[in-house]
Amino acid sequence: MFETLQVLPADAILGIMTLFRADRDPNKVDLSVGVYQDDAGRTPVLECVKRAEAAIFAEQETKTYVAIAGNAGFNAGIEELLYGPNHPALDAGRVATIQAPGGSGALSVAGHLMERARPGMRVHLSDPSWPNHLPLLKLAGLTIEQYPYYDYAAHGIKFDAMMAALEKVEAGDGVLLHGCCHNPCGADLDRDQWEALTQLFEKRGIVPFIDIAYQGLSEGLDADAYGVRLMSARLPEVVVVSSSSKNLGLYRERVGAVSIVARSARERATVLSNVSNVARGIYSMPPDHGAAIVDRVLHTPELRTLWDEELGAMRLRLNGLRRTLVQLLHARNVPMDFSFIAKERGMFSFLGIKKEQVIELREKFHVYMVESSRVNLAGINAKNADYVADSIAAVLKA
Ligand SMILES: Cc1ncc(COP(=O)(O)O)c(C=O)c1O
Repeated sequence: MFETLQVLPADAILGIMTLFRADRDPNKVDLSVGVYQDDAGRTPVLECVKRAEAAIFAEQETKTYVAIAGNAGFNAGIEELLYGPNHPALDAGRVATIQAPGGSGALSVAGHLMERARPGMRVHLSDPSWPNHLPLLKLAGLTIEQYPYYDYAAHGIKFDAMMAALEKVEAGDGVLLHGCCHNPCGADLDRDQWEALTQLFEKRGIVPFIDIAYQGLSEGLDADAYGVRLMSARLPEVVVVSSSSKNLGLYRERVGAVSIVARSARERATVLSNVSNVARGIYSMPPDHGAAIVDRVLHTPELRTLWDEELGAMRLRLNGLRRTLVQLLHARNVPMDFSFIAKERGMFSFLGIKKEQVIELREKFHVYMVESSRVNLAGINAKNADYVADSIAAVLKA
């Protein structure tokens, strides 16, 4: 039967990773990776995670299944992170949260649930969005549309065009928003924009579908959840998917959550039974180890303090690297204003240079980035920062 299938084109980012690995130049720099890196170019296991793991290994007596909804302590901890203390939706018992295999697994479960509730449901994605949103949600059966978001020439959000497009969205459609640290553009909604969207969604009966994969990496855990908290307090139904891959460095452990705000506590019970049934039908039970780590980190005071410090250091490094790159480029008198990079947040930004310049950076200077000129700022470090800036300046002046 497999003769009906064809080999698919390699993922663009994976293709660049392969080229990078094969490059023998000692100065090569990888700005294409999708993970956080420290100043030594490593993606370390956080100390709070190591300590939680050690305790789990010492104490765990069984590997029997936990539950379809996963680790209850993890689910409660994620609700606290997402909604904060005394949130009206939580207090009213309207929130159903289950653990899922990574943010991707959470997106898939949420997608299937939405498709079950409203077959053929349309979900609108920002242009651009994380490249996996489209295939993942399409596979769940949703109909995918796009709304304007990033203005490549002005290096910011086209908010008026975005609002105008969303004004025309049909009642009951879903709109996917990035909670913070937009991937790939780094341009986040400000508080007034979240407010305007909340009013529009209320008026038009639009369902927010918020993907928050980088909570804590922009301004802080609470500030980064501003949009989630605002919409969940004001709108009847909200779908939130989160990931512990980046903010706890648990990438390969596959830790994420689907959290749904329902209209009422009664409807929450229906949602919980259906979201659990969807998960049961896809993978039955989520992996436990990563969620058990998060549960421990969140609920052991010393580990929680340590996590706040470690997360704070990652955030400071990313925001600092943004300012450093802008300064280094400015000092080289490049013919382009890169100050927008310091205003954007998270790991990614588009440099906004031409595709030929991206290719020249790779072929002549061994500096690798995605062809759209998306860079992961975390790939810059004390050793390579000047070289990266020199290389960008050279291709811009050529
Ligand atoms: C916007 C966004 N959502 C979700 C994810 C999923 O992350 P994971 O499945 O590794 O937890 C990512 C990862 O890069 C992302 O950037």
